[in-house]
Amino acid sequence: MDRHSLDKSKIKVLLLEGIHENAVRCFKENGYSDIECYKEALSDKILEEKLLKAHIIGIRSRTEIRSNLLIKTPRLIAIGCFSIGTNQVDLHDAKMMGIPVFNAPFSNTRSVAELVIAECIMLMRGIPEKSIQARNKIWMKSSCNAVEVRGKTLGIIGYGHIGSQVSILAESLGMRIVYYDIEKKLSLGNAKHVATLEDLLKIADTVTIHVPSTELTRNMISANQIAIMRKGACLINASRGDVVDYKAVADGLRSKQLAGVAADVFPKEPVATGEPFVSELQEFDNVILTPHIGGNTLEAQANIGIEVADKLVKYSDTGSTIGAVNFVEIALQPNLSKQRFLHIHKNVPGVMREINNFFSLRNINIAAEYLQTDPEIGYVIIETESELDPSVIQDLRNIPHTIRVRTLF
Ligand code: NAI
Repeated sequence: MDRHSLDKSKIKVLLLEGIHENAVRCFKENGYSDIECYKEALSDKILEEKLLKAHIIGIRSRTEIRSNLLIKTPRLIAIGCFSIGTNQVDLHDAKMMGIPVFNAPFSNTRSVAELVIAECIMLMRGIPEKSIQARNKIWMKSSCNAVEVRGKTLGIIGYGHIGSQVSILAESLGMRIVYYDIEKKLSLGNAKHVATLEDLLKIADTVTIHVPSTELTRNMISANQIAIMRKGACLINASRGDVVDYKAVADGLRSKQLAGVAADVFPKEPVATGEPFVSELQEFDNVILTPHIGGNTLEAQANIGIEVADKLVKYSDTGSTIGAVNFVEIALQPNLSKQRFLHIHKNVPGVMREINNFFSLRNINIAAEYLQTDPEIGYVIIETESELDPSVIQDLRNIPHTIRVRTLF
C-alpha cells in the first residue's frame, strides 16, 4: 500500500440521512474505505460521539451542525451539505475553525426548469381547472382560455442558473423570452433583456420567478406588480415563498387579472412530509400547488451525491476549496511528487513570515506557495521540494494564530 492510500484509509467519512449511493461510490473510487452510512439523521448524543472521530461528515437538511457541536469535532476537516441550502450549518463558526463547507447549488437546476416549463403549458391551456372538473365528473370540452405557448412571451425574473435554463427550454418550444435581472447577464438564444421589472410585467403572457430570497426580492410580486401584468396572464413561483405576496395573488385570481398560478414555494412550509399545509391559493381551481418539489427528482439526488462527494474528495486529496460556501477558494490539482502543507490561520500580520521561517530554518526549499485570504482567515498551501518528517508538523501548528494544519503526500 502506498503512503497516499494508507493515509486515506485513516480518514473517517460519516454520511447521514440516506445520502445517495453515488457519494459512497465516489469516495470508494478515490481510495476511501472507512465510510459509515446512516439512512436517518442521528440523535444529538450519537452525532456528538461520532463527530469525535469523523474527518468528513455529509448531511442533508435534517442534521444541524451548530457552533456548540463544532467545538467538539477535533478531527473534522470538511462538511458536505448534500443539499442546495447550507443554513443547517453555522458557516462562520465552521470557517473560523478551518472547516470548509461544500454544497450542491446546481444539481437540481434542470429539474426546476422542467417543472416550470410543464406548468407554463398546463396553465396556458387551463388544464388544472379542466382536470378538476373531469375528476368531478363534468365534461368541459372547450378551447376557451386554452392557448399554445408557441409565439407567446415568457417573462423570466432572475436570469441565473434556473432562469437561463428555463429560457433555453421555452425558446425551443417557440416562446419569446424577455428577462429582468439586477446583474448584467449574457442573453441566451434570442432572449431579450428588459431594463425594469415593470417592462417585463407589461408584456409577458406568463411570468416566472427565479430570484433568491433577499431584502430586495421580498414581496417583489405584490398587488402593484400584478396590476401592471397583462389581463389574464399566468404567474409561476418556484423560487422562494417570501418573494410573492400570495394574498395579492389570490385577489388577482378572484378579479381574473391572473388566469392561472403555479406555486411550489410558500412563506410557511410544513417541516415534514405528511404534515397539514395551508395556503390562500387552495380555493382556486386554476392553480397548481406543489410541495416545494421543483428540484426533487431522482436525477437531482444522484447529481447532488456526486457533486458534493467530489468536492469533499478534492479538498481531502489536494486542499482545493473550489465550491466551498464559507471559505476562500484555492484550486489545485493533485501533486504526487511533492509534499503539500495546508495551513489555515487568522489573517493577521506576521503569520506568513513565521510559516516561511519554519521551512527555511529546516533548509527546506518551497517549490510553490498558494495563498488566499479574506478579512478573517488566510489559507496557504505550500509545496516543498524535499520531504519533511511529518513529526515536525507540531511546530507548524504552534505558530501563533494557526487554526489548522494538514499535510498531504
Ligand atoms: P442563481 O443565483 O443562479 O440566480 C438568481 C438570479 O437572480 C441571479 O441572476 C441574480 O442576479 C438574480 N437576482 C437577484 N436579485 C434580483 C432582483 N432583486 N431582481 C432581479 N434579479 C435578481 O439562483 P438559481 O440557482 O437560479 O435559483 C433561483 C431561485 O430558485 C432561488 O431562490 C432558489 O432558492 C430557488 N430554488 C428553488 C428550488 C425548488 O425546489 N423550487 C430548487 C432550487 C432552487
